[in-house]
Amino acid sequence: MEGNQIKQRENWGSRIGFLMAAAGSAVGLGNIWRFPYTAGENGGGAFVIIYTIFALIIGISIMLAEFTVGRRTSLSAVGAYKSYSKKWTFAGALGVLSAFFIMGFYPVVGGWSLAYVFKSFSGLLANPEAIGTTFEAFMSNPIQPIIWMIIYLALNVIIVAKGISGGIEKAGKVLMPTLFVLLIFISIRSISLPGASAGLEFLFKPDWSKVNGATILAALGQAFFSLSLGMGCMITYGSYLSKSENLPSNATIVTILDTCIAILAGIAIFPGVFAFGLEPTAGPGLVFVVVPSVFAELGGAGVLFSVVFFIAFTVAALTSSVSLLEVVTSYLIDQKNVPRKTGVTSASIIMIATSILSSLSLGVMSGFKIFGAGIFDFLDILTDKIFLAIGGMFIAIFTGWVIKKEDLKEETTNGGKLKFSLFEAWYFLLKYVIPILIFFVALMGIFAIEQ
Ligand code: PFF
Repeated sequence: MEGNQIKQRENWGSRIGFLMAAAGSAVGLGNIWRFPYTAGENGGGAFVIIYTIFALIIGISIMLAEFTVGRRTSLSAVGAYKSYSKKWTFAGALGVLSAFFIMGFYPVVGGWSLAYVFKSFSGLLANPEAIGTTFEAFMSNPIQPIIWMIIYLALNVIIVAKGISGGIEKAGKVLMPTLFVLLIFISIRSISLPGASAGLEFLFKPDWSKVNGATILAALGQAFFSLSLGMGCMITYGSYLSKSENLPSNATIVTILDTCIAILAGIAIFPGVFAFGLEPTAGPGLVFVVVPSVFAELGGAGVLFSVVFFIAFTVAALTSSVSLLEVVTSYLIDQKNVPRKTGVTSASIIMIATSILSSLSLGVMSGFKIFGAGIFDFLDILTDKIFLAIGGMFIAIFTGWVIKKEDLKEETTNGGKLKFSLFEAWYFLLKYVIPILIFFVALMGIFAIEQ
């Protein structure tokens, strides 16, 4: 292996620290904001089943592949690919580009969430009928969401500038468990609403007649997005991982946790959607309308719960977006030799500019379209449905065909010290099944969207 580094690479402080940071990257807006409304737009139960199967089979395999490549090379995405073969540099570069694109809309939603912490205690819940229109008005306002987005992005910069174990790890360790407990609480409250059962039925009872190529691609894209896969993020995180960690078990734990949280978010949201007579297909505003509506019924306590929910939601978003920013930053540090602070600052300036355009595309600039979509939607569709899936296919091909099988075996078993009994199955999936599957799902999906 050529990726020899002279400098000793920074390491995660502890096992639980790494797990929390990787889970922190995975659990974010993807689970709590995107999963419920994507499930809503794609018919509910059947989408949830397809999504779960993709997450468990393709997700765990690709996550393990990314951890393995990252730790083996001790390099972030571009360098990791390049250290094996110069020809593969493009695959890493595609990942950095995906991070840039996702960071062109993610901070906008992060900013909404931050704003909702304050809106929750400044009268939002007092008038339940107006919660929906308040969101619409806020989202399309040309100034307010941009200010919140900039504050949100500034928080990211502060965390990433502090370096890997100083900032990201500490934030994840404290706040991820808080989020989990809160979601369980909201789910219990939501299920006990009158009319809640229709929501559970929507979420868990599959209606296969609604499934087409576009649904399957949406499920695949959502799985990659939610698990932070297909753009080298987990390669980068894996590069900071100590040689004694058990990679297969880490990949499995993170994937299962992420999937549970997405489904938990569904359980928290859909009973409320039906109980309040909202549309499951309402789109990106779903969580911002349903959660305050659920809490509005609880009076003063509701305000408090809503505040705490949006704090936890913001934190979940933060632990994900810092990983996106880290992908770009570590690329600049590893490949361009810039100091960490310079890397973070220059990357975030471009992200602010793109996010401003995205935010405006939901209001004053809504007439400006790229291939028929506003900038916000365009970046979302481009990354989620195309870049991440293709990135995932590349990492599978790269691990299956470029890296030597013995090297993979050595890395995943920590030089023979660990037992990884599913190694052959994993290798077979990566080498043959996953690349072909992704190729066909992407093709089918694009064809179905075209129609
Ligand atoms: N997984 C994050 C979420 O669910 O919100 C989003 C994300 C983070 C995607 C990092 C990709 C990534 F590399």
